[in-house]
This record gives sequence, structure tokens and C-alpha cells, in this order.
Amino acid sequence: MPLDQTGLLIELEPVVATNLDRHLSLAKEWFPHEYVPWSEGRTFDGLLGGDPWREDDSDLPDVARTALIVNLLTEDNLPSYHHEIATLFGRDGAWGTWVHRWTAEEGRHGIAIRDYLTVSRAVDPVALERARMDHMQAGYANAHDDEVLHSLAYVAFQELATRISHRNTGKATGDPIAEQLLARVAADENLHMMFYRNLITAAFDLAPDQAMRAVADVVAGFEMPGSNIEGFGRKALSIALAGIYDLRQHRDEVLQPVLRQWNVFERSGLGTEGEKARDELATLMAELDQQATRFEEKREARRLRQAARS
Ligand SMILES: [Fe+2]
Ligand SMILES: [Fe+2]
Repeated sequence: MPLDQTGLLIELEPVVATNLDRHLSLAKEWFPHEYVPWSEGRTFDGLLGGDPWREDDSDLPDVARTALIVNLLTEDNLPSYHHEIATLFGRDGAWGTWVHRWTAEEGRHGIAIRDYLTVSRAVDPVALERARMDHMQAGYANAHDDEVLHSLAYVAFQELATRISHRNTGKATGDPIAEQLLARVAADENLHMMFYRNLITAAFDLAPDQAMRAVADVVAGFEMPGSNIEGFGRKALSIALAGIYDLRQHRDEVLQPVLRQWNVFERSGLGTEGEKARDELATLMAELDQQATRFEEKREARRLRQAARS
């Protein structure tokens, strides 16, 4: 008999409690204000009559600015994410403690990145604020908001995806201060990934067919949480062209290592439904490999064309 959603939450609660303790023992306290070079800041125009923002206020490459905006807007939408997981996981017991702790940690990410961007004048603060208003008003809905295992599998991948995206964005800035800040944020995302990944590991022991189905569905329909940001397609393409987050990284550095941790392709004890889901997953991973190779080839051809022109 498959477990229903309440049954899954009850059965996984002790695993949440153990991993919450583990998380709290590993998480390091840190302070956003220490990562921001405040003395480099200048008052802006408007109410206080300072200097308006100009594109050449900062040396950051365009693609690093784009990636920082996408990453920050994604972090900004935290109230929607909190709503999604608080509704699904509940606010009581170990689940509730985790929901609130995770929310508090994520809140730090948006604070730190915004402070850095404002002080360093890396992006237009008016455009940024308007984009934040638009993005938050659109809200975010989890594609599987009534399914515990689907939601857990999604966040396990998504936390690792944001880890890689923050880390590579830091490198792309060429600014050691931004790199240090984003590496700090990325370290948090890695701990979040481990928490969710360990829950799915337990789910594979508890309900292997249901876990495999959830993982296959989530890999098939994966979209980044900020994918409804205005102009996301264009932004995501430039981020992929710069190698900050592309399909190859998505497949080989996000999906693959997590699937391997779950021992997805070697595990025994699956029923018919689990085997079917695993076959779908194997097909998907092979297709993603081909798509990633095609993208890499196109990117390389584009690079050679540009090199020939200049
Ligand atoms: Fe975050
Ligand atoms: Fe996170």
C-alpha cells in the first residue's frame, strides 16, 4: 500500500529531527554586514541628493551582473517558498522547526547580496527594485505543492543548483569580495541540499516505488525557482553561455551526483512502478546528455566565430 501524504510526513518526522540536529551542528553563524565593503558606498540621488547610478560605477562584467540579479530575485521570493513548504510540511514538530530555520537562513542570502549590490553600485537600484516588485507579485508555486516526496526531491536538486550558480557567479564577478560572499552563501545552500537529500534517501528505504516516481517526475520537469523572472530566457542563455549555469552542469554536477547518492540505478527491491520510473529516469539522463553536448558544441562554434571576428 502506498503511503499517503500524511503518512509520509509522519514516517519521515524522525529523519527530519535527526537531520535538523545534524544541520544545526554543522551550520556556521555568519553576518552579512561583515561581507560588504561599506566604505566604498556613496549616497544615491533622489531624497538625499547624492549621485545617480551609472553603468560605469562598477567594473563587473555584464553577465556577472545578470547572474547576480537572477540569484537575488530568486532569493527575494522567499515568502512564496516559505508559504509552499510551511503549507506542505506544516509548522509543528521537527518539520516546523526546520521550515522556520531554513527560512531564516535563506533570508540572510537576499540581505547580503542586496547590500553588496547597493554599496558596490553593480546594478541599477531602481531597475532592481522594480524587478523585485514584479517578481514577488507574480509569486511562486511549487509544481508539486501537494506531494511531499516530489517537493523534497525538487528542493534537493534546486539547493544544489543554487549552490553552483552562486559559486560560479562569484567567480564570474572577478571581485574577490563578491566571490567570498557568494562562496559563503553557496556553503549554506550545500547544507540545505544535504538535508533534503538525506530525507529522500530515507524515503527510498521507506517507500522505494513512490520515491523513484517522485525523482523521475522532478528530473523530467525541472525548472529553476526564478524561471518566471521577467526576461528569464534571455538571462538564462547568457548565464549558460558564460558557463555559470548550463545544461552540462545541471546534468553532471546537480542531477548525477544526487542520483548516485540515492543509488538510483543500482538499488534493488523496486516494484513494477518503481522500475518503470527508473527506466524513464535513465532515458531522461541520456537525453539530457545529448542536449548538453549539442549546447556545448554550439557554444564552442559561437566562441570560434567571435574569436575570428575580433
Ligand atoms: Fe539561498
Ligand atoms: Fe538554500
